[in-house]
Amino acid sequence: MSLYAQAGELLNRYVDILASRGIDWGLMGPREGGKLWSRHVANSLALVDVLPVGVSVADVGSGAGLPGLPVAIVRPDLRIALIEPLQRRAEFLSLAVDELGLGERVTVVRARAEEYSPTADLPKTFDVVTCRAVAPLGRLLGWTGGLFLPAGELVALKGRTAEEEIQKAKGVLAKQGLVAEVLELSAGPGLEGTRAIRVRRG
Ligand SMILES: C[S@@+](CC[C@H](N)C(=O)[O-])C[C@H]1O[C@@H](n2cnc3c(N)ncnc32)[C@H](O)[C@@H]1O
Repeated sequence: MSLYAQAGELLNRYVDILASRGIDWGLMGPREGGKLWSRHVANSLALVDVLPVGVSVADVGSGAGLPGLPVAIVRPDLRIALIEPLQRRAEFLSLAVDELGLGERVTVVRARAEEYSPTADLPKTFDVVTCRAVAPLGRLLGWTGGLFLPAGELVALKGRTAEEEIQKAKGVLAKQGLVAEVLELSAGPGLEGTRAIRVRRG
């Protein structure tokens, strides 16, 4: 089977998991059932082109695996840690990683981002931290700085609030010598675009 066909099949299986156990366990609202592809998976896949080849990624506040699991499925070159503090969500993630056969390069870490400590098979810091719907930029920087600084970057999926969040976090960014930019993203032709904030050391 080609890599594309394999990724497509795994994405379908992941959507099935979200639509069944995700809803049963209360991780996805029952009304999300018909929007899992368009609202959640396509939105997560918009990140795929901004992640460098072969890097280590920490997906912070992964919840039911968004954006970390769709990204892991279509980017087999990445090693990804899904960082999630809540037990039920971490358990959901572990089951999904096993069922999707991603266990060799996707690890579930049950922790708050600011309390993360590396283990034998996980790095001290990551090349990229991703996140979606976790916290406003100022708070995110406080939680995730230790995970991606000094050499990595934070890529936070955001909607319309991106500029406003950068503006509000201006003081924190300046104090840490960080530069933030807004990325306009799309997972492909015909799919709804989205935006992300990328933060790096200036
Ligand atoms: C609104 S959910 C978003 C889940 C997922 N990223 C998505 O887009 O569907 C926010 C998630 O962030 C997690 N979270 C909250 N505070 C956190 C922290 N300090 N470190 C890591 N994760 C955190 C919550 O447990 C929750 O799963």
